[in-house]
Amino acid sequence: MNKKQFDKEVARRRTFGIISHPDAGKTTLTEKLLLYGGAIQEAGAVKNNKIKKGATSDFMEIERQRGISVATSVLAFEYKNIKINILDTPGHKDFAEDTFRTLTAVDSVIVVIDVAKGVEEQTVKLVEVCRMRNIPMIVFINKMDREGKDAFDLMDEIEQKLGLRVTPLSFPIGMGYDLKGIYNIHKQNINLFTGASSKDIHSTTAIENLDDKLLDQLVGDKAAGILRDELELVTGIYPNFNREEYLAGDLQPVFFGSALHNFGVKELLDGFIEIAPAPRPKKAEERLVQPNESDFSGFVFKIHANMDPKHRDRLAFIKIVSGVFERNKAYKHIRLNKNLKFSSPNAFFAEKKEIVDESFPGDIVGLHDTGNFKIGDTLTSGETLHYKGIPAFSPEHFRYINNSDPMKSKQLAKGIDQLMDEGVAQLFTLELNGRKIIGTVGALQFEVIQYRLEHEYGASCSYENLNVYKACWIETKDVNSAEFKDFKRVKAKFLAHDKRDQLVFLADSSFSLQMTQQKYPSIKFHFVSEFEPMEA
Ligand code: G4P
Repeated sequence: MNKKQFDKEVARRRTFGIISHPDAGKTTLTEKLLLYGGAIQEAGAVKNNKIKKGATSDFMEIERQRGISVATSVLAFEYKNIKINILDTPGHKDFAEDTFRTLTAVDSVIVVIDVAKGVEEQTVKLVEVCRMRNIPMIVFINKMDREGKDAFDLMDEIEQKLGLRVTPLSFPIGMGYDLKGIYNIHKQNINLFTGASSKDIHSTTAIENLDDKLLDQLVGDKAAGILRDELELVTGIYPNFNREEYLAGDLQPVFFGSALHNFGVKELLDGFIEIAPAPRPKKAEERLVQPNESDFSGFVFKIHANMDPKHRDRLAFIKIVSGVFERNKAYKHIRLNKNLKFSSPNAFFAEKKEIVDESFPGDIVGLHDTGNFKIGDTLTSGETLHYKGIPAFSPEHFRYINNSDPMKSKQLAKGIDQLMDEGVAQLFTLELNGRKIIGTVGALQFEVIQYRLEHEYGASCSYENLNVYKACWIETKDVNSAEFKDFKRVKAKFLAHDKRDQLVFLADSSFSLQMTQQKYPSIKFHFVSEFEPMEA
């Protein structure tokens, strides 16, 4: 492949994630997007990737979910000659850490908001991570077929609660029972809502301008009048869309629609492929790497254990940052300083995976792994690069983990080690006595760990409660050494090391954290394991 063809392949890729609070419509929207790509034939093909309410301790359910989450990890399809890779993000809040890591591998995101519920808790957290990384975001306001909040109020709420600066690229004509259609501000056309089958691809009607009488004929005098007034307001209040600002993460375009009725989805998709970024450069510790450099590099953002406990191989998901990834070619695993070849790299197409010979920047390949990979590892054609930006966030729940079967301590250690590499939870080792503490985002993970240790490693563990409020990573740059010495002595009981051997302070309450910060002002406490401003 010559350079020109390679550049073309890079330029036609769009890798993104859809984020939302559970139930806002992420799964439904994903499915409709796949429908446009012809990747699936009918709605209902993408299985629901969420843990059903009330089933949290049903392990069959957990296993089922793990199976689905492999199948839907990456959904790739072609639309108008653009190769689209959707990276799936679990909606359940107990798996938020997984979502945060997946966000290191996307080049942009679509934020789905339920028009009736407005901005919800999970959306706030996820958008904050995207903002920290300046990830370009498009907002999709869903469920316009239902009564919900006024469009202006909702955009206000988005600006206030999510800290975004929005500008609508489409605007609803009515809502709920009265939803007449969507006006595409950018293209100046109207998509009429017929409430018809979700398989229909709606046609749009172009109008000359807003004074066009056709508008009144199409939606009625009253609705046309309201729309004219509202659009005047839009022009008065919101900035003009500017792609540079969107790409820099400074401006977020808004689309309206109903995923369930496949309405406004085509506008969203067409808008998306027009403005969303192709693979972006990525910062390694050594330098900034451009996607169209000829040498291959990529990093592991997700590891999935094999569903079959007899074969303990795993699938490591690599985001390709630069160059072409080729089957059977030796690549350097930087952390292990070892060359590895992959005879059956998987690429993902909608719901199936296939072995592929070549993949390009923006693509995700799944590599079979027998324990070589950890989340965050870098693979290159030879150059020493370390990709940055797969931080750990402070867990919310902490428990001591104890071995319940002394004959199986080796199995337990190995199991814990591998599950932590997969990113199921975080392990902290107390400095004082070497006791091991597991930290998780949700209580559900403790059960998952116990279950998997038993079924995949033949080890058994028990937990012991521990009162920790937050894990704070300690930054000692510019630290006063006497102060640090005193801190280490006084707080010895609360100090631990994470898997990367970074020093962590386990604060037992927000009050004690505040007091500690006041007492030791030269020490910096972070809720995230990486301190420098993050960049995608
Ligand atoms: P999630 O992945 O974000 O968690 O949400 P999901 O797509 O599963 O949607 C959650 C619920 O909202 C589903 O209903 C879905 O049918 C509904 N929904 C999604 N988009 C729209 C929309 O545009 N309009 C309306 N009215 N509803 C929408 P459910 O009853 O919970 O599940 P199901 O039995 O229909 O799958």
